[in-house]
Amino acid sequence: MKYIKLVFMSLLLSVLVVGLVGCNQGTDEKKETTGKEEDKAGVVNLYTTRHYDTDEELYKKFTEQTGIKVNVISGKDELMQRLKDEGEATEADVFITADAGNLARLKADGLTQAIKSDVLTTNIPEKLRDKENHWFGLTQRARVIVYSKDRVDPSELSTYEALTEDTWKGRVLIRSSENIYNQSLIASFMELNGEEAAKNWAKGIVSNMARTPEGGDTDQIKAIVAGEGDVAISNTYYVGRLLNSADPEEVKVGEQVGVFFPNQDTNGTHINISGATVVKHAKNVDNAVKFIEFLTNVEAQELFAEGNNEYPVNPKAGISETLSSWGDFKEQDINLTILGDNNSRAIQIFNEVGWK
Ligand SMILES: [Fe+2]
Repeated sequence: MKYIKLVFMSLLLSVLVVGLVGCNQGTDEKKETTGKEEDKAGVVNLYTTRHYDTDEELYKKFTEQTGIKVNVISGKDELMQRLKDEGEATEADVFITADAGNLARLKADGLTQAIKSDVLTTNIPEKLRDKENHWFGLTQRARVIVYSKDRVDPSELSTYEALTEDTWKGRVLIRSSENIYNQSLIASFMELNGEEAAKNWAKGIVSNMARTPEGGDTDQIKAIVAGEGDVAISNTYYVGRLLNSADPEEVKVGEQVGVFFPNQDTNGTHINISGATVVKHAKNVDNAVKFIEFLTNVEAQELFAEGNNEYPVNPKAGISETLSSWGDFKEQDINLTILGDNNSRAIQIFNEVGWK
């Protein structure tokens, strides 16, 4: 019995080895004859400003399911310029970046293309994608008021507008106006409250600033804990990141602040996305669409969003424990395409009111 088993095993092994060698030869042959057609499923080339381990896991899963290899080039904002410089010669098929304002810039520069996909229009709510389907939200974040648990009672907080009142003089922390998140925030106010009100808001915030804007959202939160100011405007995931940090000092910072969703009795808290677009000069358009579709399925959404402590865009996907602990909130009800439309006027307003 033992012997038979042994013979069977070695037979099986030989078949496997022959099979593998055979496969290899096949691939090699193909390589020689067609040059770059390594595999029928092909590749998708991704430029992304995200860089989380969970993203890598997802790309691997996509390859397992489809055979399509994902080549990743990750970077920061300079990737947008790179795409522009490369023009038609670019290798990029998909571009992933934060903020509808950035995605709108890519579209305005003629670097994106319209995609018709029932999967995407089903999985992603209408307001979280471009009106002409040039880009699609993949994760969602809220721009909230973060406050010192020691010095501020949440009952003192209500709206973004209320932060311009005298009681907040010298207490408000917020990053510079060069930042797209603030440009998109004011672009949303222009849409909801009108240009005059948006400008008055910016003016009021400038006169209540605790300091000249410096650093990113995390630096504003750290400045609350350092006592430089009492409230900050920040994206939710920065608080989530601190709370879930491997560094106990950062966790301590996160625990000393609270998250407040403003404008719950009026027009809602500002939300924005990180999202994807199929590049205008993509060479692998079908794979690019398949890849973005994959990132919107429930399972992928949960991993992708959790990687950066964000909210999924697919309403069927669940949210992380940290996000659930902050509770539900009412969000602004505007199509995010508008953030791009209002961007240049938003920048002008910041300059007019002297927001550094
Ligand atoms: Fe960010």
